[in-house]
Amino acid sequence: MAGRELKQLFTAFGTRDELSFRRAAQAIIEEEEAKQHHALARDLRRLIAVGGESSSGDTVVLPDPPRDRDNDWPLAEVRQPSRYLTDLVVNESVETAITGIAAESAHAQILADHGVPLRRRILFWGPPGCGKTSGAEALASELGVPLVVVRLDSVISSYLGQTAANLRQIMEYAHQGRWLILFDEFDAIGRLRDDPTEHGEIKRVVNAFLQMLDQYQGPSTLVAATNHERLLDTALWRRFDDVVEFRKPTVHQIRQLLRLRLSRIPSSRPDIDRAASLLKGLPHAAVEFAIWDAYRSILLEGNQEITAPALGAAIERTRQRPW
Ligand SMILES: Nc1ncnc2c1ncn2[C@@H]1O[C@H](COP(=O)(O)OP(=O)(O)O)[C@@H](O)[C@H]1O
Ligand SMILES: [Mg+2]
Repeated sequence: MAGRELKQLFTAFGTRDELSFRRAAQAIIEEEEAKQHHALARDLRRLIAVGGESSSGDTVVLPDPPRDRDNDWPLAEVRQPSRYLTDLVVNESVETAITGIAAESAHAQILADHGVPLRRRILFWGPPGCGKTSGAEALASELGVPLVVVRLDSVISSYLGQTAANLRQIMEYAHQGRWLILFDEFDAIGRLRDDPTEHGEIKRVVNAFLQMLDQYQGPSTLVAATNHERLLDTALWRRFDDVVEFRKPTVHQIRQLLRLRLSRIPSSRPDIDRAASLLKGLPHAAVEFAIWDAYRSILLEGNQEITAPALGAAIERTRQRPW
């Protein structure tokens, strides 16, 4: 271990300078990785990135996400991911993207040795309720890092000058550790850029953000999610290292999702094929809604198992709702 980083680490501890501490720790981890000490590097990464108990029983503290300086709202929310790829029913292309990005991260050093950049800026797009937010959580699980969800409403609704400062703070936070930073409902930013009624200053803010995205070289993975493909112009697509499309499920995938969710809930022979064909055209979220709806009604009737009629009635209610 290099003496310089160790000195930085100790100095940062002495002055309680968390940012310097994390930078030094990150340098040590990278050095261990360069020495092919992958298991040690992974353990160190987990200790520094993921909250909870370390092996010595000390609590590992995550730095708090930044806050808006004017009204003190948190600009992001940190969550330990609890969803996995196996909880989702997705197209092969989505699965390949998520496992591929995680594999690159696990072998970051090999890529770095050959001068190949990691995919760090990812765009998820597709209709609502088809797994963009859940997919980001699953990617965080695969990467073994906390999920940081940026609250674009807090970031943007503040005074214009403050918006750029907020975005800069988030990017700075992205340098402090290894997280997955999710800019969810990213169209809030894209829309501002294209809306002719918006003030020119907002466009400058958006461009500044895109530039920050371009220049980002830190250890985190940045994921932006949007429902609106057309709001994102070509210049914007180019900023991302990968673009992953989430689609509505096919009838076959609806069947898979019904089976997956019903495998954890007591049920008595519901007709999955019929249920799937009735749910055709709806997003994954609707399939899940129908199951919870059926389960709720069964439990309220004092029963324990989802029956075919209960599922049928729940699907009918699901189809009547807007999705
Ligand atoms: N591909 C999927 N596989 C399994 N469940 C899904 C999938 N997509 C969405 N869901 C379920 O629907 C709900 C909403 O999904 P979410 O990821 O928030 O969608 P989006 O971000 O695309 O709007 C979640 O609770 C999730 O469990
Ligand atoms: Mg979402």
